[in-house]
Amino acid sequence: MPDQSNPETLPQLEWRDGALPISTQFDDPYFSLANGLDETRHVFLAGNDLPARLRPGFHIAELGFGTGLNLLATLLAVGDTPIRFTSFEAYPMAAPDIARALEAFPEAEAVAAPFLSQWATGARKFQLGPIAVEVIIGDARDTLPAWQHRADAWFLDGFSPAKNPELWNEDLMAEVARHTAKGGSFATYTAAGFVRRGLQAAGFTVERRKGHGHKRHMATGKMPT
Ligand SMILES: C[S@@+](CC[C@H](N)C(=O)[O-])C[C@H]1O[C@@H](n2cnc3c(N)ncnc32)[C@H](O)[C@@H]1O
Repeated sequence: MPDQSNPETLPQLEWRDGALPISTQFDDPYFSLANGLDETRHVFLAGNDLPARLRPGFHIAELGFGTGLNLLATLLAVGDTPIRFTSFEAYPMAAPDIARALEAFPEAEAVAAPFLSQWATGARKFQLGPIAVEVIIGDARDTLPAWQHRADAWFLDGFSPAKNPELWNEDLMAEVARHTAKGGSFATYTAAGFVRRGLQAAGFTVERRKGHGHKRHMATGKMPT
């Protein structure tokens, strides 16, 4: 049960086929049931040239924590390297809903217990194996400008730009760029023109790559060194 004294705003969910969480607020699924974990690996890990670039202290940041699937995919890829993972989330899911969503991905589910047990206590800053995790709760348009760090790699994982445009707008993409280390990168599953233009205007060199599965394109980019 959610802690009633907790000011967090829970997402509005429904479940497709009993297994795939859909946000009724954004009218969009959290991931693709058929290949969510593969897609994460293709888009966010390979799209940022990970795990090859990992080194101690490497900092991954994410817009849209959702079920934590991207965090768990990172955990599966990171080996022993101590890194940081910071995610920005306005509507944190309750632990039982996250657990239910992860049932679709046995590989991720197999390493999820230490995450879920800490998440269920309300912890939003915790250690997960070699990863120092922080999930910053609130609208990223408010919380990212106040963030005091720079990421080496960004996972841009809002709901689709058509349905969740506020998580992709030019001002926020400028904040992503401002919070990216020299030589840092981003990756996202979308190649929507306004998103790419926003990231380009913010200083990234943007590239369109082959998307996952049947998706034609995704986007990646780098900041100058
Ligand atoms: C596609 S889901 C993220 C999936 C997630 N990365 C995963 O591994 O399950 C998009 C997320 O963005 C969050 N979101 C939408 N608008 C936001 C905003 N303005 N600020 C912060 N988070 C937001 C949603 O609540 C949702 O959890």
